[in-house]
Amino acid sequence: MAKQRLAFIRTFGCQMNERDTETIRGLLAQAGYGFTEHPAAADLVLFNTCCVRENPERKVYGQVGQLKEAKAKKPDMIIGICGCMPQQQEELTQMLNRLPHVDLFFGTHNIHRLPELLHKIATTGEQVVEIWDKGGDPIEGLPALRDSTFKAWVTIMYGCNNFCSYCIVPYVRGRERSRHPHEIWREVEGLADKGIKEITLLGQNVNSYGQDLEIEVDFADLLDRLNQVPGIERIRFTTSHPKDISDKLILHLAQLEKVCEHLHLPVQAGSNDVLHRMNRRYTREDYLKVVDKVRHYVPDISLTTDIMVGFPGETEADFADTLSLVREVGYDSAFTFIYSPRKGTPATEMPDQVPEDVKKERIYRLIELQNKMSLERNTKLLGRELQVLAEGISRNDTNMLTGKTRTAKNVVFPGRQELIGELVNVRITEAHTWSLGGELA
Ligand code: SAH
Ligand code: SF4
Ligand code: F3S
Repeated sequence: MAKQRLAFIRTFGCQMNERDTETIRGLLAQAGYGFTEHPAAADLVLFNTCCVRENPERKVYGQVGQLKEAKAKKPDMIIGICGCMPQQQEELTQMLNRLPHVDLFFGTHNIHRLPELLHKIATTGEQVVEIWDKGGDPIEGLPALRDSTFKAWVTIMYGCNNFCSYCIVPYVRGRERSRHPHEIWREVEGLADKGIKEITLLGQNVNSYGQDLEIEVDFADLLDRLNQVPGIERIRFTTSHPKDISDKLILHLAQLEKVCEHLHLPVQAGSNDVLHRMNRRYTREDYLKVVDKVRHYVPDISLTTDIMVGFPGETEADFADTLSLVREVGYDSAFTFIYSPRKGTPATEMPDQVPEDVKKERIYRLIELQNKMSLERNTKLLGRELQVLAEGISRNDTNMLTGKTRTAKNVVFPGRQELIGELVNVRITEAHTWSLGGELA
């Protein structure tokens, strides 16, 4: 019998990309592949890439470059690059020049073609490059190999229509395409049958779910329907664009018992001038109104966000507006980014690009403030009893488990391994910046 071929996949970028990797793994498993954690031991090494900032791109060049030697020793090894990077024509040309030992390039719209592309390489021995410039209707029924037996990501829509002036995503993921609600219910019911308790619905802007479908359905309706799936205990979603959050959605957040008390609401900046040039289409005041309304209906909600510093033209006064907004909202946590110019996006051409040292100095100040706010928010939870989904064993202490509250906070608590995958109640006894500590209640 022939030895089983092994694949190694490295994934960069957002949860949508992680979810795509699960499909890739499903397709490869169907084709008879096994998986390894060691690239040098693999017959197929695949990089599912991200181009939202320069950093993840640079890493791909480094890591693929390092494989040159392994491939020289093992000429049958197939190296592939997929995902968002090759969707940009210029980047693809550059990769073809700089990484000639890569055998396979495909994009975000033709993942389902992977088995055929591998077959083509096997039969011709030649490099295969296949990028589709746009996505058609969502492809249903693809296999997926998921790691967890109790939580799962479910993509509800692909692409983005928003064209924020700094962002490459609409160019590499195409326009918004929602999956038909029946397909989503069917997938979630199937997951529940397999014991999945927590689902996270994914889309670049879930608030516009359904707008491109011929039937009358919106994101709140979808939540309502999924809330009724027996076995599913928790529903999360990401990401919500602040300009599209409806009163109906806020009411659903408050009323649907499985929908968790957590909203990730990327603000990006606190200055109206900057928000306008970012093409975010809301003002600081609009945003704060949404926050007030959400907190009014769901007082315990945890709010998280994405914030960028150093957008072209950002003055010290603009940045001060970001800091004051962070103080005013009191986020539970925030992802903070340094603006990274992306070729082909309008912001790259804007005047007054901010020098690197200024960007760095600003992000440090922002992180320092946010850490203080996070600790403050977490301290308020001391003594509270919270529901936690036990997810794994702590890396630092094997007698401790880690898990997440409904509000998406990490909790570390003493517990037996058998509890992994279960919902338990934990009394909070310690508050830190990025986590809580507690004991079973
Ligand atoms: N669709 C989501 C986010 C997608 S990208 C949304 O609209 O919220 C995730 C985050 O990366 C963004 O929220 C933004 O803060 C950051 N980001 C996007 N483009 C960037 C760029 N060119 N430089 C730095 N950060 C960027
Ligand atoms: Fe990018 Fe804006 Fe779309 Fe988010 S909403 S993916 S930041 S263009
Ligand atoms: Fe990156 Fe593509 Fe996601 S660019 S953030 S992996 S959609």
